[in-house]
Amino acid sequence: MALRNIRIQGDPLLEKKCKEVKEMTDRTSGLIDDMFETMYNAEGVGLAAPQVGVLKRICVIDVTEEKNSPLCLINPVIEEYSEETQTGWEGCLSVPGKSGTVTRAEKVKVRYQDRNMQFAEIEGEGLLARALQHEIDHLDGQLYVRLAEGGLVDNSELEEE
Ligand code: NI
Repeated sequence: MALRNIRIQGDPLLEKKCKEVKEMTDRTSGLIDDMFETMYNAEGVGLAAPQVGVLKRICVIDVTEEKNSPLCLINPVIEEYSEETQTGWEGCLSVPGKSGTVTRAEKVKVRYQDRNMQFAEIEGEGLLARALQHEIDHLDGQLYVRLAEGGLVDNSELEEE
């Protein structure tokens, strides 16, 4: 495993639509291992393949404090959004040091393929639902900044509040 460089906002790769993964290869499996290592190392709760420069529909998520619930989603599709919404602070490893307030669905149901390319489904709410929506947006070249109400603030300002 190895750490990968995280692309920063302004990098054109972050605005591209990613391609479906058709089969699991050693190369893709290695990419997923590296994505987990890179996410945990950066203390993020999610990371999408384009953030490490690979235009494939893959993201990794772990929203637990203990960092013991790694979730890898390949070709994820949001099938259901709750009408109920949540509004809260959001950040992104590709937009370091900043946060913004984003309103998203409180719950989502996502269909995806796991590392064995088996179809699976996950229902998330709260932070997990937020992470799923944020990471899947990355696969379509979308950063949360376009959704941030009132723009971005420096994290140092947040901590002072
Ligand atoms: Ni992000």
